[in-house]
Amino acid sequence: MAVRAPSVSARPQLAERLRSAFLKGFGGPPPAVAIAPGRINVIGEHTDYSGGLALPAAIDRYVAVGVRPRRDGEVNISSDRFSGRVTLAGLPPARRGHWSDRVVGVARELTCALGERGGFDAAIVSDLPVGAGLSSSGALEVATAMALLAAWRTEMPGREIALLCQRAENGFVGARTGIMDEIAALYGRAGNALALDCRSLEWEAVPLPGSRFAWLLADTRVKHDLAAAAYNERRQECERAQQLMGVADLRDVTLQDLGRLPEPRLRRRVRHVVSENGRVRQAVDALRRRDAAALGPLLQASHVSLKDDFEVSSTELDRLVELASQISTVVGARMMGGGFGGCVLLLAHRDGLDQVEEQLSQGYVQTFQRRPEFYRVRTVDGALGGDGR
Ligand code: GLA
Repeated sequence: MAVRAPSVSARPQLAERLRSAFLKGFGGPPPAVAIAPGRINVIGEHTDYSGGLALPAAIDRYVAVGVRPRRDGEVNISSDRFSGRVTLAGLPPARRGHWSDRVVGVARELTCALGERGGFDAAIVSDLPVGAGLSSSGALEVATAMALLAAWRTEMPGREIALLCQRAENGFVGARTGIMDEIAALYGRAGNALALDCRSLEWEAVPLPGSRFAWLLADTRVKHDLAAAAYNERRQECERAQQLMGVADLRDVTLQDLGRLPEPRLRRRVRHVVSENGRVRQAVDALRRRDAAALGPLLQASHVSLKDDFEVSSTELDRLVELASQISTVVGARMMGGGFGGCVLLLAHRDGLDQVEEQLSQGYVQTFQRRPEFYRVRTVDGALGGDGR
């Protein structure tokens, strides 16, 4: 299965690319189109699936999906990132271990919720890197759900779309992820992060540092083979700790409760979650005070906790964070997303970004004989616009 590299384009250009891809593949324009963004997460990592707090923001990298319903049950899916169109006689009952699984999983969940709707032709185009921890999966699922809903002339509240996409990812695809990615893709707001309570699914937009600062992603271009299995294992460990402590969510635990856990490993996992939830609260306070500098130590502490307590970092991520800490124009840096590879997120002064990239590149090449990839990202509105509530 050949993977093609993405080329960057803004939302309207991507919509245009989608129209031509659909035209080429299916001989007409797509009657329904939806575009959903990827995300960064300022802080609050591996907290969403235990009812915790996170601080994601949608970014200007997207997945666009075009859909045309069919009268028969056939399903055709094409993607600009993978060669070869997928043709299925109907929606398969189980995952096939294929890139098209997410589209099928979402379509199956929608069919469950709405009743049988028949087949469809779908084209996907994207400028969001896959496997870099920027939620290309969440964006693909949200865009697929919204395009199918539009094609079938049906509406669904955003929160239900988010939960349905999560069910597709957890059940059909088999990655037991939380809800952060879907909420960011749907409800993100330009210039803001969402202070997200993953238990109540309530959030508040919090203004991010202004134009003197920039978000930079340094992609290790490494994804370790066991990342998906290790992610599910972490979630299982959190669930076991919850059971042992008799709480519904780790959200209800304090650092004083750690002694109740028999295994040191579980204590470390829970210590990460509890301390990370605290760091999200502190980061939200700092943002509200417009104190960008205060984010630096919080990002740094989050990285150390993910590395030592939650054990989801990698030597490549650690090296980039270490290099970033030596650069005076970098406010803070940490690994971002599920971990075991992917990206480091940096908050830096906008002036001097070229130099930051240069310094990180040099150090990384020295250690690993390869260059990291950089993405300078802007925060944008989610798929439902400025305030989809
Ligand atoms: C992945 C998952 C999210 C979240 C992060 C870690 O991106 O999709 O739900 O758990 O990892 O914070």
